Amino acid sequence: VKTPGRALITGANRGLGWWLSRELIGRGWEVWGACRRPERADELWALEPTGVVTYDAAEGDSAAESVFHALSGVGIASLDLLVNNAAVKPAELRPDLGVDGIHNLTADLLTDVLRINTVGPLALTRSLLPLLRRADDGGLVVHLSSNLASHERVVGNDIGYSASKSALNMVAHLLGRDLVAEGITVVAMSPGWVRTDMGGPHAPLEPEPTMAAFADTIESLGPERSGSFLDYNGDPINW
Ligand SMILES: NC(=O)c1ccc[n+]([C@@H]2O[C@H](COP(=O)([O-])OP(=O)(O)OC[C@H]3O[C@@H](n4cnc5c(N)ncnc54)[C@H](OP(=O)(O)O)[C@@H]3O)[C@@H](O)[C@H]2O)c1
Repeated sequence: VKTPGRALITGANRGLGWWLSRELIGRGWEVWGACRRPERADELWALEPTGVVTYDAAEGDSAAESVFHALSGVGIASLDLLVNNAAVKPAELRPDLGVDGIHNLTADLLTDVLRINTVGPLALTRSLLPLLRRADDGGLVVHLSSNLASHERVVGNDIGYSASKSALNMVAHLLGRDLVAEGITVVAMSPGWVRTDMGGPHAPLEPEPTMAAFADTIESLGPERSGSFLDYNGDPINW
């Protein structure tokens, strides 16, 4: 069981990242929120997080390194939890909005989605490894995945989003197998279908209780789960 420590959550300014930040702060975690425009993140600042850092997941290694420097620049030497939450699901690719995902899936758009949803989380994890290695209890990395990444659960034909999250699952699986030897646990977790800007108004789950269950699962994770794909309540999901 993880006791509250220091966490960094990407996309903390709205949606599930904001709700998880709120939940973890309430449980006594020291939360650093990462977002594209801290100067416009009023709702995040209202949670009184320990700090807010600038991070654009589309910017690859340079964005990831700048988060590392922002944290180490204020004397932070360890990180207990990294939550790679920031992601996109472009409207052009959403069959649920009546758009044909295949015909709109240009190479450029697919590359943008992969850059934000898959490459960004890998780059940030890589840059923050020196801090995660120094976590007292062993570092934990949680990648926000989706039911739409699971071959068994996928519905619709949002190829770009599903492919980006399936690729992220493999990133989580292989990082989880490798890094467990260094005391770092890595998992992919689906939040379920939740009412946010991305989830839309018809989603069956409310953010507040869902992120409370998500936080319970985070606090229960240990090395034996490293490399796995889990539901928000901790149940395993078939890849
Ligand atoms: N809601 C659901 O039903 C659902 C289901 C399965 C998985 N998920 C996953 O859960 C996570 C959160 O989803 P959500 O529902 O909270 O989505 P959301 O309401 O659309 O919020 C997305 C968050 O990601 C940030 N973001 C987008 N592009 C970014 C970039 N290039 N750099 C940094 N931050 C960026 C957004 O910041 P800006 O304000 O700057 O755009 C925002 O904070 C995502 O990984 C999503 O794929 C959600």
